[in-house]
Amino acid sequence: MAVDYDPYSDEAMTDATALYKEMRTEGCPHFMEKYNGWAFTRYDDVKAASLKAKCLDFTHGQTPGQLLLDEDVLESFATKNGSEHRKWRGLIADDFTIPAVEAQKPRYRELARELWDGLKGKEQMDVYRDYANRFFCINAGYKLGLPAEDAERYRALIDDILHRDKGQVGAVSERNQKAFAELAGHLGDYIAKIRANPGLATGYTKIYAEAEIEGKRLNDHELLMYMITLLILGSETTPMVIAAFFYFLDRHPEQKAAVLKDHSLIRRAFLETARFKQPSNMLARRALTDFEIAGQEIKEGQNLLFIYASANRDETHFKDADTFDIFRDDLEPNMTFGIGSHVCLGMHVGVEAGIVLIEQVLSEIADWEVIEDEVVRAYGEHLSGFVGMPIRFTLK
Ligand code: HEM
Repeated sequence: MAVDYDPYSDEAMTDATALYKEMRTEGCPHFMEKYNGWAFTRYDDVKAASLKAKCLDFTHGQTPGQLLLDEDVLESFATKNGSEHRKWRGLIADDFTIPAVEAQKPRYRELARELWDGLKGKEQMDVYRDYANRFFCINAGYKLGLPAEDAERYRALIDDILHRDKGQVGAVSERNQKAFAELAGHLGDYIAKIRANPGLATGYTKIYAEAEIEGKRLNDHELLMYMITLLILGSETTPMVIAAFFYFLDRHPEQKAAVLKDHSLIRRAFLETARFKQPSNMLARRALTDFEIAGQEIKEGQNLLFIYASANRDETHFKDADTFDIFRDDLEPNMTFGIGSHVCLGMHVGVEAGIVLIEQVLSEIADWEVIEDEVVRAYGEHLSGFVGMPIRFTLK
């Protein structure tokens, strides 16, 4: 019997792990009549579909809400196809290579130390809210040339934009819309300032404000969409992996003891956490042409959900896929950062800065304990994992 899957059901928005398992067993792709769309849940199918570059249309958006509910599209390189996508993404791609990220590590370390120094005297902190989320929004803001305090304020607004009340379908609440209007207002004022005085712009904002590709320059609205996209994508997911790192290691004391003893295991543990609790859950595209995946004919114009969180738990790809095991020998390849032309631009930033943040804390604490009653889980169709991770810790 077909699995009853709706990404907006309360069950799926609370925790879709069990549903994904049923869908992988049922076979894939899974057709969702209500949305004229297909959900890809198996590793091989997400991979095969992601690599069909010429069959995928990104211009209708990347989030499930944009594709399935017709929400406004945040236009940027991420919502372009083919060579246009490559050219606009390419303007900042050099800053995301392994050597470029390596060169930024001293700055990551300094910021991580500064944030941790403000927390370590307290014996308790929320790893997500007080530490990792702050780091990544300050970093994303810095790369756009925004002052740290503004970037933190903007991140709080982004959290409000992404927040879903129980049962809420899409970004329709007053809280979502007020926060979006406020964020757009602040960034709009900033853009007006740099248009009046271009010398003030730095980082990616300067690059996109000045860019001209085949005669096309970004107007103020388009520049705003780029800034919001880079602020959101640069700060939403890695803090969730860091929160989950502290959670799952605490649930597996032997693995935690091994990591506390040997910090070179932090990398493995980070990557296994990102596999086990893939934070972006799913992204969406539309079929540009007819094509076939796993014997199913996909029709032009149909919606497609690429469910990375499910692909990363595919039992035909990972041994004991539902077991958290930092020592597994099949950690890679995985679907944590996607694959194909739209593969995560910030993957090295996420991994390297994530490891720096964890190293900073583990270098000074003897142990930690998660305060389970106060853990906050993400709710909604788009992200999966933790958005609040209070821990008690003892210093060395
Ligand atoms: C552990 C943390 C992260 C995870 C799990 C993650 C995951 C993903 C995934 C699954 C995609 C879609 C890939 C595809 O379509 O094949 C993506 C796209 C993207 N990510 Fe990440 N990401 C992370 C961190 C970051 C960071 C830190 C940044 C920026 C500094 C970033 C920027 C982007 C951008 C710009 C895209 C869109 C790329 C495009 O459409 O060309 N990500 N990410």
